[in-house]
Amino acid sequence: MERTLVIVKPDGVQRGLIGPIITCLERRGLRIVAMKMMQIDEALARRHYAEHEGKPFYPGLISFITSAPVVVMVLEGPDAIEITRATMGATNPAQALPGTIRADYGLDSRRNLIHGSDGPESAQREIALYFTESEILSYQRAIDPWILPNE
Ligand code: RTP
Ligand code: MG
Repeated sequence: MERTLVIVKPDGVQRGLIGPIITCLERRGLRIVAMKMMQIDEALARRHYAEHEGKPFYPGLISFITSAPVVVMVLEGPDAIEITRATMGATNPAQALPGTIRADYGLDSRRNLIHGSDGPESAQREIALYFTESEILSYQRAIDPWILPNE
């Protein structure tokens, strides 16, 4: 089992797309183990996107991600990181494949609706930025035997 951090970005919340975006991930079978709504402040945004500091798009990225509330969640499942990234689609919606969230709902590389961790180390680091261990739940769903690989 793997965990990943997902954010429904400010454009997703403002456009009333929280439900459809979560549905895309939930219907794949990923289990939501933590979730909250919040507004990211500048300090948190800078920590979250530290790897992009100095790049031309960085100031716009920080002002966008802090501009309005977001929904942050931890998703769990086998290959949760890769499966979430594939469901999101490419950063630039022009390159995102039809059927992905970024292709189906967006046009712009900054307002691309969703964030998902890009690897195991970033997932661990990002989850710790938003949630304490006690906020992440451990539970089974009744449908899990029909979705998760057999041991
Ligand atoms: P994210 O971190 O938000 O999940 O997106 P990502 O992995 O697909 O893309 P990343 O390279 O990490 O970039 C982070 C966010 O910065 C904005 N961006 N703009 N060339 C550009 O104009 C550009 N490149 C990146 C996007 O909002 C991207 O999601
Ligand atoms: Mg990224």
